[in-house]
Amino acid sequence: MRAKLDFDLATPEAPPEASIEAAVKLLESGFLFRYAEMGAEGNEAALLEQEFAALLGRKYCIAVNSGGSAIFLALKAAGVQAGDKVLLNAFTLAPVPGAIEHLHAEPVLVEINERLVIDPSDLRAKAEASGARYLLMSHMRGHVADMDAIAAICQDLGIMMIEDCAHTMGATWNGVQTGNFGLAGAFSSQSYKQFNTGEGGLIVTDDEDLAARAILMSGSYMLYPQHKAAPPEAVFARWKGRMANHSMRMSALVAAILRPQLPLLAARNARWRKMHDRIAERLRSHQLIRLPKRPAAEDYTPTSLQFFMEGLDQAQIEAVIKDSTAHGVPIKFFGGDTPEGFTSRAPHWEYVSPQPLPRSEAILGRLCDIRLPLGLSDAQADTLAQVVLESLSEALP
Ligand SMILES: Cc1ncc(COP(=O)(O)O)c(C=O)c1O
Repeated sequence: MRAKLDFDLATPEAPPEASIEAAVKLLESGFLFRYAEMGAEGNEAALLEQEFAALLGRKYCIAVNSGGSAIFLALKAAGVQAGDKVLLNAFTLAPVPGAIEHLHAEPVLVEINERLVIDPSDLRAKAEASGARYLLMSHMRGHVADMDAIAAICQDLGIMMIEDCAHTMGATWNGVQTGNFGLAGAFSSQSYKQFNTGEGGLIVTDDEDLAARAILMSGSYMLYPQHKAAPPEAVFARWKGRMANHSMRMSALVAAILRPQLPLLAARNARWRKMHDRIAERLRSHQLIRLPKRPAAEDYTPTSLQFFMEGLDQAQIEAVIKDSTAHGVPIKFFGGDTPEGFTSRAPHWEYVSPQPLPRSEAILGRLCDIRLPLGLSDAQADTLAQVVLESLSEALP
């Protein structure tokens, strides 16, 4: 009798009761717009920014409407202009090159290594060859590069780094949280991230000009003094009137749903980590499965699990996936000819000029990915692993 997982892996984590209560209270008050002319007292978005800045250990925070908007605004506030080159690791999700395209800037794609993170030597080579002054460092699927080495390269070459921390809320490298290595960090609270508000984004930074510019561009009108994690008026005086209003601010309702989730981060990440490592250990026992290495310096916060099926061709991998999907475990595959769901590779982003990425293509061509919903029990995690192992045996005579 074959194992079958009876749990939908696409199930997001529902916000806690406190989020529901805060949302209802706000709905009843009618003050859903964060800049209602009521001052900063009780302003959910302003309080969220203050609390999130403290959580990250950064001075300033700007709440916006999505992770993609957070990246766009952080890059724009850092000075990226049309035609500028922006370095970006080749393993990331479509909204990340999309944010660069939104600025009419040009992504310069950097190879990844078998650990699924940016390759430092290719970063240096591409930075030198292109003259790019910006790096958008995407910690895709929660894999954190050697950030000391990356920060040192940026420092050496005068590159400004913006981190995409959509998958690394609370993750650290050598004890330092992601979002603290560059000029700014961008986060997402879209449903499949550590926090679930449906849509939402946050920018953190210690740079007062970047913070003021991002606040003005996010669409604060002249109500920016309501912000609580923002630089002083003198900094805004340098920029107001000069920044376009892009209306990307976060709604007070989203902030009200998010605030009660902040104290849950450590416990959620611990549960995710335990679930990930439990499944990883079982999968690793199969001779054809290999997982990317995780160095001791990386404290990771996995909301999904990545692995390679070694020595199999594309058709064989797809046969395994078909079988495991039929048994309740939809494995996502980055090596497909056409993008599916959330998975895509550089050749699928047709608006980006084609760039040779032989190493990344070889790696992503074998990469499998499983979403890990927080609600999965230990027994269900074991069934998940068993389904994958049985599908491998079934599909391969
Ligand atoms: C790696 C990565 N960066 C950025 C984003 C953008 O976040 P959002 O969907 O909130 O725009 C996502 C979304 O899933 C993502 O996976």
